This record gives sequence, structure tokens and C-alpha cells, in this order.
Amino acid sequence: MQATALLDAAGASVPCARSRAAEVPDPTGLLALYNRSGQPQAAIVSALAEPYRIKAVESVHVPTRAEREAAIADAGYNTFLLRSRDVYIDLLTDSGTGAMSDRQWSALMVGDEAYAGATSFYRLEAAVRDVYGFRYVVPTHQGRGAEHLISQILIKQGQYVPGNMYFTTTRAHQELAGGVFVDVIIDEAHDPRAPHPFKGNVDLAKLAGLIDRVGAANIAYVNVAVTVNMAGGQPVSMANLRAVSELCHRHNILLWCDATRLVENAYFIHEREEGYADRPVAEIVRAMMSYFDGCTMSGKKDALVNIGGFLAMNDESVLQRARELVVLFEGMPTYGGLAGRDMEAMAVGIREMVDDQYIAHRIHQVRYLGQQLLDAGVPIVEPIGGHAVFLDARRFLPHLDQELLPAQALAAQLYVDSGVRSMERGIVSAGRDPQTGRNHIPKLELVRLTIPRRVYTDRHMDVVAQSVIDVFGHREDIHGLRMVYEPPTLRFFNARFAPIRDGGPA
Ligand code: F0G
Repeated sequence: MQATALLDAAGASVPCARSRAAEVPDPTGLLALYNRSGQPQAAIVSALAEPYRIKAVESVHVPTRAEREAAIADAGYNTFLLRSRDVYIDLLTDSGTGAMSDRQWSALMVGDEAYAGATSFYRLEAAVRDVYGFRYVVPTHQGRGAEHLISQILIKQGQYVPGNMYFTTTRAHQELAGGVFVDVIIDEAHDPRAPHPFKGNVDLAKLAGLIDRVGAANIAYVNVAVTVNMAGGQPVSMANLRAVSELCHRHNILLWCDATRLVENAYFIHEREEGYADRPVAEIVRAMMSYFDGCTMSGKKDALVNIGGFLAMNDESVLQRARELVVLFEGMPTYGGLAGRDMEAMAVGIREMVDDQYIAHRIHQVRYLGQQLLDAGVPIVEPIGGHAVFLDARRFLPHLDQELLPAQALAAQLYVDSGVRSMERGIVSAGRDPQTGRNHIPKLELVRLTIPRRVYTDRHMDVVAQSVIDVFGHREDIHGLRMVYEPPTLRFFNARFAPIRDGGPA
């Protein structure tokens, strides 16, 4: 327990993970590459160091082991219920946790707080038109606000909504509107070790088979997420988007995008798909969006804001319905649950998110953490995804059955070890089938180490890696959890657990 032994002994001292600075001056050869090339690629620059300077800092409290043990017990062994002051490095989510830029902070000042027709709305609309290419935008307080609107607009009771793997809030809103989610992602997505470069792809045969079986009229719309969060932040290829779009439009089925982590997906296309190596991410983003009729968006991820989201589309009849509903659930169509300043910050964030150097560094940082774990033999989802490293709790804790909630137990143990907060993405998150009341049993039982945007340095990643490796070395000490309080919807947020000790009840 090298990292955490130091943490415990010194209280607030920084654990001594592998020191890279002490190695030879240019161990990777990147600096030489950077010096030699006339126009260094974004990937080279961003692997050298963070492509930003820190202008404001927030101190963190580093809890002692005794504090961590008390805090996790108070939180019912659910990392969602920890207080952030008790967390050293917070990898719970990349949602709303990013650092805004100096330009975003200054944009807050020009926020137009008019109740209707605010200038800030029109600046947001212009950014969405320029970067995504959709004609119309309806702001919402965050992504699920947009999911709510589109589900209510497009789903009739009993209709199917195919998608490339479920997401918690997306499926919950589809079900609330009377829809039935059908997973049409390729099989490889459910296998943490399958090396497919585009594991988020839709399985065209599955989608075509569903259309044949139930008829196009019984499909509300097709929803494709880029990247796929629950599969490990895995991308969809441009070729797949093109094919899905052709198939849907041939049957007059609308194709909607969950564009929450679109830019990360675009970067993977730039890296992995033939014909895109020389194309800037901004161009790839526009090309991807051209296949869709509209999108839902959580601005809290790609768009680099702490709150905000939107629904965007080309179709005027969908726009009209969205404007009718948004006044009921969110606010006027020109603010949709946001302050003028929030829309300003999102408009700037939307333009910043397609900066090649920024996105190259983001992907680099996630990979930098994941590679250290792979090198140490820790089982993770491969290929390493866009926003997070996912620990494979089945292989990490092979001695625990899925009913003993291995991913939940691992997230709790990692917190106790080092104060690093992560999130369960397994049987607890999957919830119950609303029809049968039975637990969904997902193939993936994962712990997500999610990297906020522009917040932590690669040195923080060293500390996280060291702690995960320490816990892996002592994995036999983890005995599982049982749920003692189960909320009826989206249970993972508020559920409480108790430890099972040595194979028996607590
Ligand atoms: N779609 C995806 C793929 C998401 O990851 C999220 C949120 C949403 C929609 C909903 O957006 O939170 O703004 O309402 N994901 C967060 C996460 C909560 O931690 O992965 P929201």
C-alpha cells in the first residue's frame, strides 16, 4: 500500500507514485519530435504536458484513513452519497465537474438575463448552428431535460426505441413516455476484452431485424449515443453512422443522437478511421451530425459547463412540439431552465471543445491512467475509452458473485484506500425491468474512474493508478455488499448498502 501508506502516515502529504520527472529528460522522445516538426500535431503537444496554464486553484482536503472509513459507512457504502469535502481525487463523474476557461468566466458577465428573447440564447443558437450544424435549438437545464422532451414528443405508448446500449436517464425517460428500449449495439460492446476499435457501433442486422419484426411504424425513433458511456466510453465509426442513417431514413424512421460526448468520438474517428487522420475534429463533428435528424445534449460534458443542455433539430414540427413542452417543464424556449450567463458559458464551451489540442490531451490523459493499470495487470475495459477508465470488477474480484455487488464494493474499497471517488456501473446501475420487476443482469460489471475536463494533472493520475494497483494487490479482502435501501427509480443514486464480511452477512 505504497501510495496510501504515505497518505495515512503524513495526513496531507502527496503520495509518492512513480516519478516521471526523475527519468531521462525526454524519455518518450516527444520533445524531440515536437522540436523537429514544423507544425507539431496536437497529439504530440498534448502528450508532453497539459495544454493550459492554471489561473485559479481550489484546495482539497485529504482525509485520513479513519475519516475515510467513517465517511463511507455514513454514506451507506454508496460513493454518490459521500460529501465532496471527504474526497481527495474526485473521479465520480465528468458531468458538470470540468474547469471553465478564462473566456467562459468572462462570458458569464455578459449574460443577458431577459426572461424572453435573451441575446445569450441567440449566441448559443449560433454556436450550435456553427459547430453541430442543426438549425434549431431548445435549451434545457441539462441532458435529461432534453431526453424528457424528445421522449414525450416522439414516443407513443408501447413503441420501441432501439439504441446502442442503454444509458440510465435516457432509458428512464423513454420508459416514462411508454417506450420499450431495445439494445442494438454490436456484441463486442458487452465484452470488456474485445479489441474492436468502434465498440459503440450499431449492429445493423439487429436493427434491421427489429424493423422487420415489429414494423417501422412501431419504432418511435432510433437513438445513437456517441460515445457509448456504459460500454466504457466506446466510439461509433463514421461508416456505421452513415449506414444506420441510410437504414433508418429508408424506413422513414427518425435518427436521434445522444451527442453528450461527441467530440471524444470524433477524436477516435480522427485516430482510427481511414480518411480522417488529416481532418480537424471540428470537421468530423459536423460530418457526424449530418447523419442525424437531431440530438439531445448534456452540456455538462463536451461543452465544458457546470450546468446546461439542449435539444437540437432540423425539423420544424419537432421544434414546435419542443417549444410547447419546454414551457411546461423547463422554462421559456429562449432559456429552458438556464440563466442567460449559463447559455453564454455553454456557447463559448461549444467552440472550445473542438480545439484539437485540448481534445487530444483529454484522450491522452484517460489513456495515460489506463495504460498504467494495464501495465500492472489490472483488468480494465479495452480499448481505453474517451472519458473514463473502467475497472472490470468481474475479473478484478473473481471470488464474488454478481449478487454480491462486486463493482459497488470495489468503488467503496478504492475510496477507503486513498480517498479516490469512483462510480459503480454494473448490476446496481442497471436497475429492474419495469414490466417484470426483476433485476437487469448486465454483462458488464464495472467501476468507472471518470476524468473531469481540465481539472486534474497527469500527476493526479499517477496517484489514482497507484491506489488501484494497491487495492488489486489486496483484492481478497473485499467481501461484497448487500443493498439495504433500494429506491424505486434510478436506484444507484440513493441506494444504501451494508458490507458482507468473510462471505457471511455483516
Ligand atoms: N446521456 C449520456 C450518455 C450521459 O452520460 C448522461 C449523463 C446523460 C445523457 C444525461 O445528462 O446528466 O446532463 O442530465 N451522464 C452523467 C454521468 C450523469 O455521470 O455519466 P445529464
